[in-house]
Amino acid sequence: MKILVTGGAGYIGSHTAKCLLNAGHQVTVFDNLTTGFQQAVPDKAHFIRGDVRDASFLESVMKTEKVDGVVHFAAKLNVKESTFKPLEYYENNTAGVMAVVCAMKSAGVKPIVFSSTAALFGDKVQDRAIQEDDPKEPLNPYGYSKLMSEQVLKDCSAAGDIRYCALRYFNVAGASDDGQNGQRTADAFHLIHLGVQAAVGKRSNLQLFGTDYPTPDGTCIRDYIHVEDLAEIHSLAVKYLLGGGESNYFNCGYGFGYSVREVIQMIKKVSKTDFPVIEAERRPGDAASLVADSRKLKQQLGWEPKRADLELICRSAYEWEKKLT
Ligand SMILES: NC(=O)c1ccc[n+]([C@@H]2O[C@H](COP(=O)([O-])OP(=O)(O)OC[C@H]3O[C@@H](n4cnc5c(N)ncnc54)[C@H](O)[C@@H]3O)[C@@H](O)[C@H]2O)c1
Repeated sequence: MKILVTGGAGYIGSHTAKCLLNAGHQVTVFDNLTTGFQQAVPDKAHFIRGDVRDASFLESVMKTEKVDGVVHFAAKLNVKESTFKPLEYYENNTAGVMAVVCAMKSAGVKPIVFSSTAALFGDKVQDRAIQEDDPKEPLNPYGYSKLMSEQVLKDCSAAGDIRYCALRYFNVAGASDDGQNGQRTADAFHLIHLGVQAAVGKRSNLQLFGTDYPTPDGTCIRDYIHVEDLAEIHSLAVKYLLGGGESNYFNCGYGFGYSVREVIQMIKKVSKTDFPVIEAERRPGDAASLVADSRKLKQQLGWEPKRADLELICRSAYEWEKKLT
């Protein structure tokens, strides 16, 4: 089938584009390259430069490419930036989804897989894994831009315009098994990315925010999912929707987490380096623990994680970062 991947020149989108090609689909990547890289787009994918907010261009692309389904990654995702530039997040992320759905409706395309986030959940559930229907109370405009996007999808699905799968990613990390792709955005702000940058000497140190959380070692716990396991979830979601599946939503993680200190120790182990770690105050809005309950994903989409191993995740990220230097 023909799948349009918006944001397919980015970190998760480019891994997913490759996974969809391997599953036998034809892939068109649609990206404005604000944070993406054209060289990350797989050779077998057709690349079109454009902005998802341009609904009429997107509609014409969907028609000429004879698209059967959409995987929508294109978004801005810097949580901190969203607090001082909220309009840019609502405009790019929420209005972006509205434009994509509008184009789909005009082009007669129904299935859409949407990149959502654990940031929907805020910090209300910290003592157990988070389930799909737990309360949604985002702590920042980024989280709200995604929650509002899910609402748009839900309402348009109820009206019969589309069928969607919202995939709420927890912490995405790692690089491809073949060493050919990984996080290319130098100023991405994720812990493992920052840690491997410190390990290869691109940063003089790593800051650790908060050591007094109610967790065993006092640092925050997160559920780190390997980017290629996450890409496979998208492929399963596409198959589910193309097979006529009803609109649905899933938490995407392994169901267990690691503390910031454990992650730092693992990066030091795989890199055999001992970069300085500077302990700092808590950051506003950081939940003590965010772990996904992913039973629904396994039961309903048949997902089986293959890379649920912090050492493998950190090693692949480190090897990739070394390659970039
Ligand atoms: N990385 C994570 O840990 C994480 C966690 C939760 C959710 N997400 C979501 O996953 C998606 C992909 O994230 P990523 O880490 O790959 O980020 P990324 O920045 O690498 O990828 C985003 C891509 O979208 C493109 N883009 C942005 N706005 C666009 C627009 N208006 N029109 C066309 N293209 C546009 C960018 O150029 C880039 O290629 C995002 O929707 C993000 O919110 C990511």
